[in-house]
Amino acid sequence: MSEFDDLVRNITTCELCILSKSRTRAVPGEGSMTPSVMFIGEGPGYHEDQQGRPFVGAAGQFLSQLLASIGMSRGDIYITNMVKCRAPNNRDPLPGEIEACRLYLDKQIELLKPKIIVTLGRHSLARFFPRETISKARGKPRRWNGIIIYPMYHPAAALHQQSLRHVIEEDIKLLPRLLQEAENPPPKEEPGPHQLNMF
Ligand code: URA
Repeated sequence: MSEFDDLVRNITTCELCILSKSRTRAVPGEGSMTPSVMFIGEGPGYHEDQQGRPFVGAAGQFLSQLLASIGMSRGDIYITNMVKCRAPNNRDPLPGEIEACRLYLDKQIELLKPKIIVTLGRHSLARFFPRETISKARGKPRRWNGIIIYPMYHPAAALHQQSLRHVIEEDIKLLPRLLQEAENPPPKEEPGPHQLNMF
């Protein structure tokens, strides 16, 4: 059994916090095992809790559309959440629940080694940049421990607030360029005029 399989088994049987008592199924995440891009949402909702899979409800459908709009699909990326179990009535995860789940997300990042992490919403932004607000940070890539972090609004926010839909649809368009840059970084010594210089 691989270290990643081990991790998935630990998540699905986890009892580190109280959410384990009310969940139907834990939702470790899914997608490519060699992803260039990892998407991190907040936590499972009703449908995710039922199926044990991330982003399978309405927000997930919108996320799939966003990926399709840039020629990508869910199999190209890895999708997971800050917390792996649904909070009752979809309330925000509590700080202690996020903290209890943190070791799982850290291990997923360590083992999958994404070049880019897209944070969806304020909770996953706070994991990397706790003092930033989502409205200021969205759409602006930055570096964290050698990984490009690209903050976006949560797709569920666009379903509730029509004005955000356009913002998310625009923000996702930068991802192919970020990916190209991450996979072909310009030589450090001789930065050329082609450099995107987005950071
Ligand atoms: N919202 C999230 O943040 N994660 C999911 O998996 C589904 C909806």
